[in-house]
Amino acid sequence: MYNLLFNNCTSRRKRKALVLCVALILNSISLSLAQQTSPDVMAKETEQKMTDRERFAMITSLIGYVPALGMPRDKRIPEGTTMSAGYTPGVPRLGVPNIQSSDASMGVTNPGYRPDDKGATALPASILVGASFNPELAYQGGVVIGKEARARGFNVMLAGGINLTRDPRNGRNFEYYSEDPLVSALLAAGAVNGIQSQKVISTLKHYTLNCNETNRHWLDAVIDPAAHRESDLLAFQMAIEKSNPGSIMSGYNKVNGEYAGGNDYQLNKLLKDTWGYKGWVMSDWGAVPSWTFALKGLDQESGIQVDVHTWGAEAFTDSLQNAYKAGNFTKERLSNMVQRILRSVYAVGVDKWEGTPTVDMSKHNETALATARQGIVLLKNDAALPLSVNEPVKIAVIGGYAHLGVPTGTGSGAVLPVGGYAASINVGGPGLMGNARSLYLLPSSPLAELKKLMPNATVEFDPGYMIAESKLLAKRSDIVIVFGIRVEGEGSDLADISLPWGQDALISEVASTNPNTIVVLETGNASSMPWRGKVKAILQAWYPGQAGGTAIAEILTGKVNPSGRLPLTFPESLEQTPRPELSGLGTPWGTPTTIVYNEGADAGYRWYAKKNIKPMYAFGYGLSYTSFSYSDLKVQGGKTVTASFTVTNTGNRAGADVPQLYLTNAAGENNMRLLGFERTELAPGESKQVTLTADPRLLAHFDWEKQKWQIKAGIYEIALGKSAVELQLHSSVKLAAQLFGK
Ligand code: BGC
Repeated sequence: MYNLLFNNCTSRRKRKALVLCVALILNSISLSLAQQTSPDVMAKETEQKMTDRERFAMITSLIGYVPALGMPRDKRIPEGTTMSAGYTPGVPRLGVPNIQSSDASMGVTNPGYRPDDKGATALPASILVGASFNPELAYQGGVVIGKEARARGFNVMLAGGINLTRDPRNGRNFEYYSEDPLVSALLAAGAVNGIQSQKVISTLKHYTLNCNETNRHWLDAVIDPAAHRESDLLAFQMAIEKSNPGSIMSGYNKVNGEYAGGNDYQLNKLLKDTWGYKGWVMSDWGAVPSWTFALKGLDQESGIQVDVHTWGAEAFTDSLQNAYKAGNFTKERLSNMVQRILRSVYAVGVDKWEGTPTVDMSKHNETALATARQGIVLLKNDAALPLSVNEPVKIAVIGGYAHLGVPTGTGSGAVLPVGGYAASINVGGPGLMGNARSLYLLPSSPLAELKKLMPNATVEFDPGYMIAESKLLAKRSDIVIVFGIRVEGEGSDLADISLPWGQDALISEVASTNPNTIVVLETGNASSMPWRGKVKAILQAWYPGQAGGTAIAEILTGKVNPSGRLPLTFPESLEQTPRPELSGLGTPWGTPTTIVYNEGADAGYRWYAKKNIKPMYAFGYGLSYTSFSYSDLKVQGGKTVTASFTVTNTGNRAGADVPQLYLTNAAGENNMRLLGFERTELAPGESKQVTLTADPRLLAHFDWEKQKWQIKAGIYEIALGKSAVELQLHSSVKLAAQLFGK
């Protein structure tokens, strides 16, 4: 091409100008190439200048001291260092910053590391974010976390919980987004992108199948490997593609017999070789029983003192160094571990921080409120809601500490808000985390907020402490609003899905006394709701965060139109779920446990569809104060499925709908898969056209032999629905056979 250009040039001046031009183009091409590869190049260059001592220090992190627990500062953390979940020394002479991490599922946490910390924004639980079906909202939450992290000097956020909510007893479902790989991937990617937009690294965790807490350190999660690719692994794969998280945190559990942190298939073969993941894999805290995990793909041992507590020794310090000296652990692998960490530091821009960002806490509270407004789900409404705000009615608010605040999940994700908790009650319990199990109440009282919005009503509170007493108030009230709460969190699974402390009996008795009973559930999971037929309305508020009381009151009074949709199926009972009995439940800490995820890729709604079981409330379900209709479904085939349709608000209030596109049958196989969704805001009477294109992996099975995704030739039946069981428009397309991807 250049010769051709030269030949056409006649004058010397023209030729000179052209040479200059070509040089400039070449220069800019090589510059942009350098920019593209620079994190890799920079990581390599820096690593090569490091000493082995520096290298070994980089592949571990130290948990900070907690004065309240009398835990001393590890001498390896220099005095004056901000305490965090994980501290890794930087290399100042090479411009490498200290790495400081914090938990961040729902905001920047502080389990006592920093007594002077004024508190962070306590966002709603991830499961509520999932219920918004709004990745943009997840992004905004991520920005809040990223800014508040930077203000504290933290550059790694232990966020992005993306385990599928396979079991409604899982104590940590509130930290995860949904039971569906696509919803989980899009929402987690939103959060990771939001955090990383602030030049703060985010993890995705817990890789993979940490879907129950029962005996998590001794748990073998067993699954068919191809089904694994189509479910939990697909969620990780898609989220990684969409957000390039700087780090992946491996889970505590084993996956098909090998610990997740020492799982050669999951880490080396799949994540790094097949998917080409360039960041680093950190362990969970206290999850590394052996230095050999370094050979299996683990790049960093987190909170090394916790491994001493759990396994009797640190793994990546003396033991790994001895293996290095003995030639059992190579220099090449050590360099690779370090380079992966450095690469993420450079790729996310942790090294490019300039100044401390200004943090506008009231703006962050707005994000917390906006999220709660969009993720609370109205499950039942027999014309009881919205409440008529101007009526001089007598309202009884009962239970759930609604006079104080809203509960939040317990464990490493719990966020201490500005001003502290409204109350915290240690519940206690067995197991490693039993002592830490607490009912934390965030100071946003639904009672106070309701009073504000209903100035003409007489609103009285009863704590639900004694059923007979609660009935007395219910009897002389026009409307009863009962709050049902449950403490869920890390380290244990629920024994069943009832409400604790006799709350089911309370609701039932109160509803018998006053049929105008509305229930607000503040839980991280489904509940059995034996009183469901007796009450007029049910609102699933999850753990709604520091502005949750406001959002609940706004939805009850109609100031906000509910728009959340269930991101996980609510079963009639545990009998409907893949595992009515949960193996290992109730056994002492340390009991080897195997949970067989026999539903395979058919987690959640996919299981109910395959077994033809009708749950209590289906995945994707949620009511509104307006109504929506769908029309003009047009579906195109080809390499994948593209559908377009019209959504119309047919009611008289503005509202948001979440139309959902499902595959219901794949070439003759009953195979339900969510292919796409779009949260759509509509004014009364307004219509919008929506087009959704499916990720072809959702139409395929993973062929384990060929290690490729396979679409079989045939007819693919597609449905547009309001939930996994309310399918309203149907169509079908023919797809040709395809073998693709990895
Ligand atoms: C949790 C992780 C968390 C870590 C650090 C562990 O107990 O499983 O999710 O990031 O602690 O606090």
